[in-house]
Amino acid sequence: MTGFVPPPYPYDRLDDAKVLAEQFDGGVVDLSVGTPCDAPLPAVIEALATSGAERGYPPSIGTDRLRLAIQRWIGRRFDVAVPTAQIAACVGTKEFVGTLPQWLKLRTPERDTVLYPSISYPTYEMGAVLAGCRAVPLPLTATGGVDLAAIEPADAARALCLWVNSPSNPTGALDDLGAAAAWGRAHGVPVFSDECYVEYTWSGRPHTILEYGLDGVVAVHSLSKRSNLAGVRVGFYAGDAALLSYLKEVRKHVGLLVPGPAQHAGVVALDDDAHVIEQRDRYRRRLEQMAGVLTRWSRHEFTLPGGGFYLWADVGDGWAFARRLAAEGGALVSPGEFYGSSSARCVRVAVVQPDDRIDLVAQRLGVSS
Ligand SMILES: Cc1ncc(COP(=O)(O)O)c(C=O)c1O
Repeated sequence: MTGFVPPPYPYDRLDDAKVLAEQFDGGVVDLSVGTPCDAPLPAVIEALATSGAERGYPPSIGTDRLRLAIQRWIGRRFDVAVPTAQIAACVGTKEFVGTLPQWLKLRTPERDTVLYPSISYPTYEMGAVLAGCRAVPLPLTATGGVDLAAIEPADAARALCLWVNSPSNPTGALDDLGAAAAWGRAHGVPVFSDECYVEYTWSGRPHTILEYGLDGVVAVHSLSKRSNLAGVRVGFYAGDAALLSYLKEVRKHVGLLVPGPAQHAGVVALDDDAHVIEQRDRYRRRLEQMAGVLTRWSRHEFTLPGGGFYLWADVGDGWAFARRLAAEGGALVSPGEFYGSSSARCVRVAVVQPDDRIDLVAQRLGVSS
């Protein structure tokens, strides 16, 4: 067979380490996948059951109520006004990231390249691969943003899009979104800005690319991390008028629909900020605690990220560190190789377990938390 064979899913490659961690009394403490563990807002769960939206097909672009709630949130959070015609829903953002290149390629068949940060969420590259496009990883600057000056003119000329991600998964770095928007406009390349961790910005105030104008840019957001709703699948994208009209139309044809009850719940989640403030405090506390525990135990330096809920550290050998932490602390973490071939020395630790489980890891490792 010469056709496409899907590569192993990154987290399935942790099965051996998982066996080591499972041997502990109390079981494995899973800090690998960035899946939230804390309870969503009760009013959001109630909204899921009371929408009355089960019978009919929901609009692919999102209900008016949902798009108005998104518009209010963008206005409140970033002081940016976006017309509702330039806002649409997606079924969580992974599908948006994974399918985008095929839609862009159909629209601009003479281009074939997706530019993305060389250390990043793997779906930017996978989306390009699934569309039969070229995936070109971009070097990062010393502060962890995309090195725009290093983009080859030949790659820029073939680019369907540039992905940026701030705060970054996995590094936690904050990128210069104004510079990315300006680069995109200067080179005629749409810039897609994945901002799903923006509510967890620890250095300075949160930013969206939309602050720098809507033309040529699209911001991509999710309620998965903001509101602990990864299981409900509500995301959205907003920005450039022509890109939004095209993507809204093409995505309708594939039946990419956020279920009606989920859209209804999304409105309730977006209109509430108090639960996000509480969640921010939880992640901040866990990041500080876990950074201390791992630094004391491993003698490698774990520092707080600029944003996001991951610790990211150079530990020499990411796989060796992950196995040792599984064997000695019963905790599962992600080797840096999952996020790019240049980050094999690193490890990513998601603080997505309740405080008592993090205490348990500290206890097993014999360090105070
Ligand atoms: C950078 C980044 N983008 C997008 C996603 C997808 O999230 P969802 O599909 O739940 O919206 C994730 C999930 O971990 C992520 O880390």
